[in-house]
Amino acid sequence: MTPLQPATVHRPRTVERIVHGQPTSDGAGVKLLRLLTHDLQQRLDPFLMLDNFASDDPDDYIAGFPDHPHRGFETVTYMITGRMRHRDSAGHEGLLQNGGVQWMTAGRGLVHSELPEQEEGAMEGFQLWLNLPAKDKMCTPWYRDIQSGDIPGFTLAADAAHHGDRPGVQVRVIAGSSHGVHGAVQRDGTAPLYLDLTLPPGARFSQPLPDGHNAFVVVYRESVNVGDTAVAHRKMAILRNDAGSDGITLSASATLAAPARVLLIAGQPLHEPIAQYGPFVMNTREQLMQAVDDFQNGRLV
Ligand code: CO
Repeated sequence: MTPLQPATVHRPRTVERIVHGQPTSDGAGVKLLRLLTHDLQQRLDPFLMLDNFASDDPDDYIAGFPDHPHRGFETVTYMITGRMRHRDSAGHEGLLQNGGVQWMTAGRGLVHSELPEQEEGAMEGFQLWLNLPAKDKMCTPWYRDIQSGDIPGFTLAADAAHHGDRPGVQVRVIAGSSHGVHGAVQRDGTAPLYLDLTLPPGARFSQPLPDGHNAFVVVYRESVNVGDTAVAHRKMAILRNDAGSDGITLSASATLAAPARVLLIAGQPLHEPIAQYGPFVMNTREQLMQAVDDFQNGRLV
């Protein structure tokens, strides 16, 4: 294994805004917390949506997401706990389970279902929508199931994280790269970074980020600090794009009862028009009308 590259951040970004999210339901009544809502699409370009599902009541998730179409973007589903079966109109099928990621590029379109494969217990995860550049919106659909063991990751040595003899920060690199470790997925146009971080009490983690990339963190266990700002459980913090900033530094209070777990997501904005109608995200209204027509006439297969 190649040695980890140290990450030095001299001018860390600060928090612009804490987002509480909107409780909602989607699919066949799955209860969700929508953290990245429609009104944040321009601000967080190239990201279009982020939903968090987290429940130990099967009534909240059991009906799942029956057949529905997508066109023009990518969906990244990260299953923290539970199992979800997906099938699509091109004949692909896969099972997403604990710690696994499904990366789907809808491109010109497909119809798929996402259905829980469990009738009891906890189900927890995230679905992120990542836009495609205009030139790629009608590409051939593609998807990949990445099992938990195939997600690249590393643990920072205790001394590197400046927190004495506590175990180090664990990093799972779903997309992009961190400390020289390349993630499971790379994308040219949007250059997404998608990290799942586990910070033991007292730990600290730095990640360089280009100042023009839009970035946010989502806390799903305990809480973390970004500079002087505390980010609580199930909140999203949007990071300022301060000119000349060179990254982010996250820290976990030494008084936490358990390790904090946080998603750090960043990407290069596309600066292209965003036109959305439900599960279709294109650049113009005409393209949306075409998508609806193609769906209604069975051409999204
Ligand atoms: Co879907």
